[in-house]
Amino acid sequence: MRFTDSPVIDLTVNGAKLSFHQDNGSMHVGTTVWPCSLVLVKFAERWLTSTSTTTDNPYATLLDFHNKRAVELGTGCGVAAMGLYLLGLKEVVLTDIAPVMPALKHNLKRNKPVLGKMLKTAQLHWTNSDQIKALKPPFDFVIAADVVYIEESVGPLLAAMEAMVSDTGVVLLGYQVRSPEAHLLFWEQCNRIFDVEKVPHEHLHLEYAYEESDVYVLRKNFYTDVLLLLRKVQIERKCGLVYCAGNKIWEVGNIVNGSYSCIKGKKETVSDLWGEGESCNIDVPDAQDRNAGSQCNNIEIICN
Ligand SMILES: C[S@@+](CC[C@H](N)C(=O)[O-])C[C@H]1O[C@@H](n2cnc3c(N)ncnc32)[C@H](O)[C@@H]1O
Repeated sequence: MRFTDSPVIDLTVNGAKLSFHQDNGSMHVGTTVWPCSLVLVKFAERWLTSTSTTTDNPYATLLDFHNKRAVELGTGCGVAAMGLYLLGLKEVVLTDIAPVMPALKHNLKRNKPVLGKMLKTAQLHWTNSDQIKALKPPFDFVIAADVVYIEESVGPLLAAMEAMVSDTGVVLLGYQVRSPEAHLLFWEQCNRIFDVEKVPHEHLHLEYAYEESDVYVLRKNFYTDVLLLLRKVQIERKCGLVYCAGNKIWEVGNIVNGSYSCIKGKKETVSDLWGEGESCNIDVPDAQDRNAGSQCNNIEIICN
């Protein structure tokens, strides 16, 4: 682990060197670079630059950043967002509370030559729904690193994540236990909204596997339910193409030798993809049901 408390933190990503000024003496935690953000970036780098083939890279689909939009919540000095941008994101908005913005903008300017442009920033307090709406969600990725440390902020943080990430999107979370109360509340509430996948420690970057830092992948659980059901139907019917549709298509997948893979992401309308052959039509619970914590028991699949 190359985390130090020196004022300057360097991070090499994909051969490019990012460099961050931090102010450990400030009263705002966001002016310090926290290890979770380094661990998250280097985890992604490890698997994106991996020489293993797509079949034995478990993160090949997850970390497909091509043409993807992201937002980072509680970005601080901006390490995670800048690092993941260098790994291929098309666009990323870095957000934090007002007092942290000067440190963030300073570090963005400092890294502009490496990034190639000034990335977008926005002031965003997790309780402020107007600030959330102004960013025009949903995003393909919500990035967050070391943001769970105040019990009162857990609810607003999770609500912001849910509002920001698309139905098929992913929250990439760098995590460290900071407060036992916030920790317990976060995971209790998180599991109602998201399916949680913890990255095994041995999958982190070998030089950036800090004992207390973890990486989690969160996906909206109603969407995962739909996919699981869809895969089951598809496997039982041994069909090829599968269309997963509610009011809009979420995913088109294919099955080859018993294993499923998504071949086309979310589409806005069904008409251009709803062709001949096997198709599944899925009614999903409406947003109100989802917010009430529905586990999608009422999904119907009508096979034509
Ligand atoms: C421990 S720092 C982590 C900073 C950065 N992600 C990193 O890993 O280096 C937590 C960050 O969350 C931000 N934060 C805390 N509460 C927030 C809230 N209610 N709304 C927006 N940001 C918040 C802080 O300002 C700070 O930047």
